[in-house]
Amino acid sequence: MITNNIQHIVETLKKGDIVGIPTETVYGLGANGLDEIAVQKIFRVKGRPNKNPLILHTHSIKELKKLVKHIPPIAKKIADHYWPGPLTILFDKSELVSDLITAGSKKVAIRIPSHPLFLEILKSVDFPIAAPSANPYQRISPTTAQQVHEYFQDKVPYVLEGGKCECGLESTIVGIENNKVIIYRLGGITMESLKKVHPNVELAPKDNTKVVTSGMDLKHYAPTTKLIIVDNINLFKKNHPELNIGVLTFEHHNNRFIAKEFYYQLYQLDQQNFDVIICKKFKNMGIGKALNDKLQRASYSEGAS
Ligand code: TXA
Ligand code: MG
Repeated sequence: MITNNIQHIVETLKKGDIVGIPTETVYGLGANGLDEIAVQKIFRVKGRPNKNPLILHTHSIKELKKLVKHIPPIAKKIADHYWPGPLTILFDKSELVSDLITAGSKKVAIRIPSHPLFLEILKSVDFPIAAPSANPYQRISPTTAQQVHEYFQDKVPYVLEGGKCECGLESTIVGIENNKVIIYRLGGITMESLKKVHPNVELAPKDNTKVVTSGMDLKHYAPTTKLIIVDNINLFKKNHPELNIGVLTFEHHNNRFIAKEFYYQLYQLDQQNFDVIICKKFKNMGIGKALNDKLQRASYSEGAS
């Protein structure tokens, strides 16, 4: 059920149950990150394989220190610049963090979010909150409380109403290697922006044989309706009169606005039983790079060229 009462959320978390939580990126499915039974519920309800690790959310550097072995200077620099905000950083995990969270990896992904309600929740509990995006495995990430409720119904006792997510895309995930910032998933923070804080930034190679983050899966965030990337919307429509076509388009808007609306509009179109959804690529700069990446993965189909 959707609630405005933050106490419902805090109490449910303390009881070891899962809740829907608004963040500035997308809604999360949260649980006590130090309680393995609670964390298992996330995997089960999401239908997510245990081999995909979870992000831990916390509210301060003081709390972060309990979860990691050490904070490399470059990580500190980018954390100071972007937190609270839509950036997730990989650290060497401390003993406190279970292998269930990290899927056996020695690295743990951590983020201090900026959504005021999420920060309030984090300050009301004495544990980090594990939270993947609140969508069933491989479906579109939700940016409204209503969407989370539609996905999970009674399987998630409470979803906190926190408005439509400001950023609308997941956090950007980075790791630090040999003085380089490696981007594992493009999201709310752009590569261009990161380069201003630390010039040595690289995109992790797209190698689907070794999936480091599930955001790197070729197919991800997909609607159930087939999504096709086209060069010319009108031409595609003209060439396919037999199809009932949904058009995902954001003419005349800047990329920040598009990012906020992208998953939401895709989700709405996906509800309408079109034969296909079509979309043009976005201008490949800034947040447009992340949008094109999401578009590519959402339109991926096995066997297709
Ligand atoms: O914006 C976000 O990051 C949202 C909100 C709720 O915070 N969360 C989110 O979580 O997108 P999720 O689980 O849907 O995506 C997290 C990604 C996954 O691709 C996962 O594989 C990767 O982060 N990840 C988590 N822990 C990792 C680790 N220790 N090493 C490598 N990748 C990790
Ligand atoms: Mg996700």
